[in-house]
Amino acid sequence: MNIAEEINLKGFVEEPIDPTLDLYAEIDRLKKEKNAVILAHYYQEGDIQDIADYIGDSLGLSQQAAKTDASVIVFAGVHFMAETAKILSPDKKVLLPDAKAGCSLSDSCPPHLFKKFKEKYPDHLVITYVNCTAELKALSDIVCTSSNAVQIVNSLPADQKIIFGPDKNLGAYVMKKTGRDMVLWNGACMVHEIFAREKITKLQQRHPEAKFLAHPECEQSILEMADYIGSTTGLLNYTINSPAKEFIVATESGIIHQMEKANPDKTFIPAPPNNTCACNDCPHMKRNTLEKLYLCLKNEQPEIDVPMEIIERARLPIERMLDISAKLGL
Ligand code: 13P
Ligand code: SF4
Repeated sequence: MNIAEEINLKGFVEEPIDPTLDLYAEIDRLKKEKNAVILAHYYQEGDIQDIADYIGDSLGLSQQAAKTDASVIVFAGVHFMAETAKILSPDKKVLLPDAKAGCSLSDSCPPHLFKKFKEKYPDHLVITYVNCTAELKALSDIVCTSSNAVQIVNSLPADQKIIFGPDKNLGAYVMKKTGRDMVLWNGACMVHEIFAREKITKLQQRHPEAKFLAHPECEQSILEMADYIGSTTGLLNYTINSPAKEFIVATESGIIHQMEKANPDKTFIPAPPNNTCACNDCPHMKRNTLEKLYLCLKNEQPEIDVPMEIIERARLPIERMLDISAKLGL
């Protein structure tokens, strides 16, 4: 099997690693040798977060990808994030430790169906959540993330008609916060849809002082219970600034690594999922491992490739988001 076939089949190129190798030191050495930067999302495993040059939410990571002067970007996240980095920095080599690290939310919105949906509303502006394919971004007017969706919608004239996709939960949250009506695509994230209201209520009874934090990708019935709703960076900052000592966290469990590091005297409890799931791990995010990250930096594979025609159409909606965010100081 050649390299391309192996990546197609497994998502990465498998290779034996000397068990005595100090992976941290070796990754550091390769990073310097190749002028590479490691960008990691908060949902990555703790060991990957610990070796990253920058850890952040989707907005912070896109801002870093747009401004880095590294020659190689290793994106420890999922496919749409690495694609966004490639769109913003097409001259750089963008690597993803496991090419099969996808996203259920992105998958819930196939571009050919979204195109037909969009054609039904010709006078609407299209705002897409960054958790979608490059092709979908190319069909959009403005991209947003969970940390700027409300502000982006508010920056538009009040009578502007809007299609919002692919996340119906974030869309409903934005409608509530802005008081505006939008046409929503019916997509959702598999991780944020599994929280169980009754189990959270029971947990709150056992921890009456705990603050309940939720990501806006959660369903409305869960968001109604929250003391604070925000992107992963927003949730992390809330734990730092709040005098509370206990927090129940309704988002992917990877963020708890940074919450614990930033607040060693505080306790973080993952919000309980329903009975169909054992934990709040994103199976896509967790496909990346430290070993795969090492191999991808060493072999410069798997590499993200986005056709130039898509890059050209998808860049403007992302840049519009970055410009609005910069003007608003986000
Ligand atoms: P943020 O990074 O905007 O918090 O979004 C979380 C997420 O689901 C990323 O996949
Ligand atoms: Fe996609 Fe949800 Fe995983 Fe984020 S947590 S990558 S939205 S499936």
